[in-house]
Amino acid sequence: MKIIIGSDHGGYYLKQEIIDHLIGKGFDVSDVGCDTPESCDYPIYAEKLTNELLATPDALGILVCGTGIGMSMAANKKKGIRAALCHDTFSAQATREHNNANVLCMGARVIGPGLALKVVDTFIKTPFSNDERHIRRIEYYDDLK
Ligand code: RB5
Repeated sequence: MKIIIGSDHGGYYLKQEIIDHLIGKGFDVSDVGCDTPESCDYPIYAEKLTNELLATPDALGILVCGTGIGMSMAANKKKGIRAALCHDTFSAQATREHNNANVLCMGARVIGPGLALKVVDTFIKTPFSNDERHIRRIEYYDDLK
């Protein structure tokens, strides 16, 4: 499975830990930046990641900023993106099963690396339930007026 990952400066160091962790597990990882810990604007990387994700069937995305909030707000502006802000494994599992989330957002100023890697693992290994009621709800808000 391909994992596409991006961050701003606030998430830069946690992103590097996640990349090392995923490569160690054999995942194909694509890093859309940022490439240094210098201050930068998180929507740029949310846009890069969502463009690549929507062009890559079956891939999942991970976005890290200081809080995870800006990244999730920016990513969710793109149709077809279901970005979930998760700092615990219960939410990471539930959002894959119920919301078919395709982007995990985390805040490096909120969560430590130990838990963050467990959240990542849970998000990646949990499949969508394919339950009819969850599909109906996702389809409803996909075209919300
Ligand atoms: C950057 O200082 C910070 O605003 C950003 O990383 C993120 O937390 C935004 O939501």
